[in-house]
Amino acid sequence: MRRTVLTALAAVVALVGSGVLGATAATPALALDNGLALTPQMGFNNWNLTQCGSQFNEAFVEGIADTLVSTGLKDAGYQYVNLDDCWAQSSRDSKGNLVPDKKRFPHGIKAVADYVHSKGLKFGLYTSAGTKTCNKAGFPGALGHEKQDAALWASWGVDYLKYDNCNNQGQDAKKRYTAMRDALAATGRPILYSICEWGQNQPWTWAAPVGNSWRTTGDINDSYSKMLSIYKANIKLGKYAGPGHWNDPDMLEVGNGGMSDTEYRSHFTLWAMMAAPLLIGSDIRKASAATLTILRNADVIALDQDAKGVQGNEISSSDGLHVIRKPLANGDTAVALFNETGKTAKISTTLSAVGVSSGTHTLTDLWSKAKSTSSGTISASVPAHGTVVYRVH
Ligand code: GLA
Repeated sequence: MRRTVLTALAAVVALVGSGVLGATAATPALALDNGLALTPQMGFNNWNLTQCGSQFNEAFVEGIADTLVSTGLKDAGYQYVNLDDCWAQSSRDSKGNLVPDKKRFPHGIKAVADYVHSKGLKFGLYTSAGTKTCNKAGFPGALGHEKQDAALWASWGVDYLKYDNCNNQGQDAKKRYTAMRDALAATGRPILYSICEWGQNQPWTWAAPVGNSWRTTGDINDSYSKMLSIYKANIKLGKYAGPGHWNDPDMLEVGNGGMSDTEYRSHFTLWAMMAAPLLIGSDIRKASAATLTILRNADVIALDQDAKGVQGNEISSSDGLHVIRKPLANGDTAVALFNETGKTAKISTTLSAVGVSSGTHTLTDLWSKAKSTSSGTISASVPAHGTVVYRVH
């Protein structure tokens, strides 16, 4: 990975030197050099479903791992099974080590990680870059314990850390998150590093060499209005994202029941257009056919996971009608038409407005799978709160 980054950098330096890139070309942000999240991470996290409820336990987590496999979600790309807050006991042991909650995880965390690994999946854990986690019960955070905690997690087989921001004692965010980056690196185990400081210190301006992703906003909830406001904040930050370092508009609510299927399709499509981490947050053990159809839409997932690693941006946005464009590795372009409003509306753009060359192109609607051709206009009648997304070839 280090060699890839250096080679890429050398190529950019050569291009600048040769005058191919003008003096005004942006300096490429160096990503965290751990070789992970070259496309946005995909998996499951329990928080949006269980929070700290008693159903969050070993049987639940292992059931989720089983279901990822049996429903084909694993094959669709969802590989991390991540535990959020409330997995630990409220005090460290006499040696200062974190201790798993005995009721929820009677066989310890390593046993759960081993089970998840036995299914060909990866395992993630959570704590805060503070003295305590966010839950009011106050579980121990890792501030000042970075090396000891990282070493323990590595010994348990942890592959992913979500590092939150509660109880941070007013200490500098960049320092706190960098200390954990270095502690994770010191374990020698590849651990995907997900920064969760809610966009408070504009992590997009400093976190590319620190973490694999950073939350850009406060918490999502299972409502159309919250999903919409997070979309509007996150869509503006596209230039900061790329392979190994992504903007994170928070985890998916698809399937939790607070939005219609049309709204969940918008949520999923917009997250994919923004190259966001795709972490399922609903009970897939009981998912409806409609929920599984959304979460397993391989054509939409392919936009999120595209190797070019470009976050989509808005080409136009007026009166709640949004046109979003995402260039793709094979030269195709994804175009999403999102109707924020409460009434069906026609949304139109043109091939040239979304940067597609002249000539006749095939448009595939990635939800209905219908194909059409165009040499000029791209448009659709889009239902209230809905999104039509085309792959333009
Ligand atoms: C914060 C985070 C959430 C979740 C909770 C857990 O609010 O932003 O995603 O991890 O803490 O307490």
